[in-house]
Amino acid sequence: MSSRSLFLLVSTVIHSLRYAHTGSSEIPNVPDTVAVVIVDGYQTNHYDSITRKMVPTQTWMSRVSEDDPDYWERETSFWRDQEQYARMHIEFYKERFNQSGGIHVLQVSHGCEWDDETGEVHGFDVVRYDGEDVLILDVKARRWIAMKPQALSYQHRYNKDEGWLEFMDHRLLKECPESLKKSLDYGKSTLQRTELPSVYLLQKTPSSPVSCLATGFYPHRAAIFWRKDGEEIHEQVDHGELLNNHDGSFQMSVDLNMSLIRADDWRRYHCVFQLSGVEEDMVTELDPALIRTNWGTLTMDSTGLFVL
Ligand SMILES: *[C@@H]1O[C@H](CO)[C@@H](O)[C@H](O)[C@H]1NC(C)=O
Ligand SMILES: *[C@@H]1O[C@H](CO)[C@@H](O)[C@H](O)[C@H]1NC(C)=O
Repeated sequence: MSSRSLFLLVSTVIHSLRYAHTGSSEIPNVPDTVAVVIVDGYQTNHYDSITRKMVPTQTWMSRVSEDDPDYWERETSFWRDQEQYARMHIEFYKERFNQSGGIHVLQVSHGCEWDDETGEVHGFDVVRYDGEDVLILDVKARRWIAMKPQALSYQHRYNKDEGWLEFMDHRLLKECPESLKKSLDYGKSTLQRTELPSVYLLQKTPSSPVSCLATGFYPHRAAIFWRKDGEEIHEQVDHGELLNNHDGSFQMSVDLNMSLIRADDWRRYHCVFQLSGVEEDMVTELDPALIRTNWGTLTMDSTGLFVL
């Protein structure tokens, strides 16, 4: 296996839980606070300032109250307090940025990442105002850092507040990983499943590279590459990015430049897809009969998938 494939396989044994909190002002018909919990890319909880209750958005998530009967009440009460936090901060930054009114958005993203092989836990907390970072927490150093001069007074105030630092430490490095591990367990059949992709060979025009696209796989620990006569090749090959599909699965592609490949050599090439936890490689021969083309009836749908 190439170093690149290996890298993809070992670099992503990291699970994450993120609380994404959006506060807004003056957007008609939108609750001014919305908070969601996202575990490995899946939304598990929802709160907003109209319902004022934190609720599960995955059926398996309701199991949390079996171990922790106060969980939903505790989270509800935390987010009710955060409504005030968002309103206060928006008022504060509006004043600091000399804005009189209009639509403004505060986004707070806090949570943790857990490496299930090394056991390492990282916490994070970032505050953004109108799309720009204003305040971040350096969790290791237990220090808030203003990213804009307008946030300096919060930096000073928070860094003097030992109780608040203590609370964030506990929330990010203790509660969060516990909650993450439980969610991974409750949602095992969704979050710890393996799903093989469909693999397509695609070509936009007769002179374009042939793209080997694997779509619909889970988890994202995967590798895709081209082989010639059984050996992985790097020349004339272009790796695409790992992308999310709307259903929580992933897609990834690798292009092969065809300009130097003679027609009778095509069948010496194979596209190989490997998924972590699955022994068998998925191997697709570079067979002209298998190639779906864009100059025919192939089009891309709204989710970025090719459909016939
Ligand atoms: C806001 O207005 C004050 C007073 O006019 C000025 O000193 C300050 O630089 C302004 N701040 C911004 C971010 O424009
Ligand atoms: C394919 O390779 C040829 C020859 O090396 C090069 O001229 C061409 O730009 C490449 N095409 C793409 C799409 O990279």
